[in-house]
Amino acid sequence: MNLPQKVRIVEVGPRDGLQNEKQAIPTATKIQLIDMLVDSGLNYIEAGSFVNPKWVPQMADSAEVFSGITRTAGVTYAALVPNLQGYERAISVKANEIAIFAAASEAFSQKNINCSINESIKRFEPLIAAAQAQKIPVRGYISCVAGCPYSGDVDPNLVAQLAQDLLAMGCYEISLGDTIGVGTAGQIKNLITAVSQKIPIDKTAVHMHDTYGQALTNIYASLEMGVSVVDSSIAGLGGCPYAAGASGNIATEDLVYLLNGLNIAHGVNLEKLIQAGNFISNTLNKPNQSKAAQALNNKCI
Ligand code: HMG
Ligand code: MG
Repeated sequence: MNLPQKVRIVEVGPRDGLQNEKQAIPTATKIQLIDMLVDSGLNYIEAGSFVNPKWVPQMADSAEVFSGITRTAGVTYAALVPNLQGYERAISVKANEIAIFAAASEAFSQKNINCSINESIKRFEPLIAAAQAQKIPVRGYISCVAGCPYSGDVDPNLVAQLAQDLLAMGCYEISLGDTIGVGTAGQIKNLITAVSQKIPIDKTAVHMHDTYGQALTNIYASLEMGVSVVDSSIAGLGGCPYAAGASGNIATEDLVYLLNGLNIAHGVNLEKLIQAGNFISNTLNKPNQSKAAQALNNKCI
């Protein structure tokens, strides 16, 4: 089997996971969650976003979150930003890294960030210039890589071209987002084949939402294709406010369980991770959506 020896996990729960929650979550809870995730061994946390708070109210306190976390050496605390204004807000509270997000679908781009794909790329230019001047790494997301909630099918070649453009602009890595969790393994393999003709596989990450229960299978297919960076969300929390009905990313606990079984190194302690997932699930008063956490919590097997 052609699998990586090591996987870097990008924990997006505090941003992608919580952004979709309707109930007000205290800033202290978000901070405690991030500190627990780091304590479990995760070393890359997308800790919040600096978008227009009227669009995503749950992320309005991201500055307070960044200011309140206990920084651990060697851990990257990243922020999602849509424009220069967001970049400046993120940097003022010492985000270590920035993630920008474009879409492979015009309709989703309009709904999510109120502009065309080309306009979004234009908006990123001054942001990336500022980040390069300040030596802040920039990660790039492409949303809707396997389908769009508004316009349906998405051409893998369009995703591949966008990946090449974002990399050429200065992103160090491109995360392929199945925003609505519709992709299946064969489709994801075709997508990665197309993308790998335009960007190196070691600059490709996957970000699989689990709406149709395909995320773990899609991740396994991606690992087989040589991908070694995987995004995930604690307790399977989340979704996108502009993709109604989409569920969260693959639960980090389930990803870690898979990697353990494959003897792929990742640096995370599953027990501590499950404590973090239980903490946030209990606080939000919802069931932990990780199957591995459910099984280990119930000690059913
Ligand atoms: P717009 O209305 O076109 O922006 O929104 P604008 O430039 O015309 O400005 C309008 C107002 O927004 C102004 O305020 C700006 O100051 C303010 P006003 O003068 O009216 O008082 N504004 C901001 N305020 C704070 N921070 C900012 C900022 N920018 C402008 N950064 C905009 C454009 C992009 C801002 C808006 O559409 C937006 O905030 N969208 C956010 C959408 C979002 O966060 N979606 C979820 C994250 S993406 C995702 O989940 C997918 C992903 O996980 C990958 C995957 O799953 O595929 C990443
Ligand atoms: Mg997402």
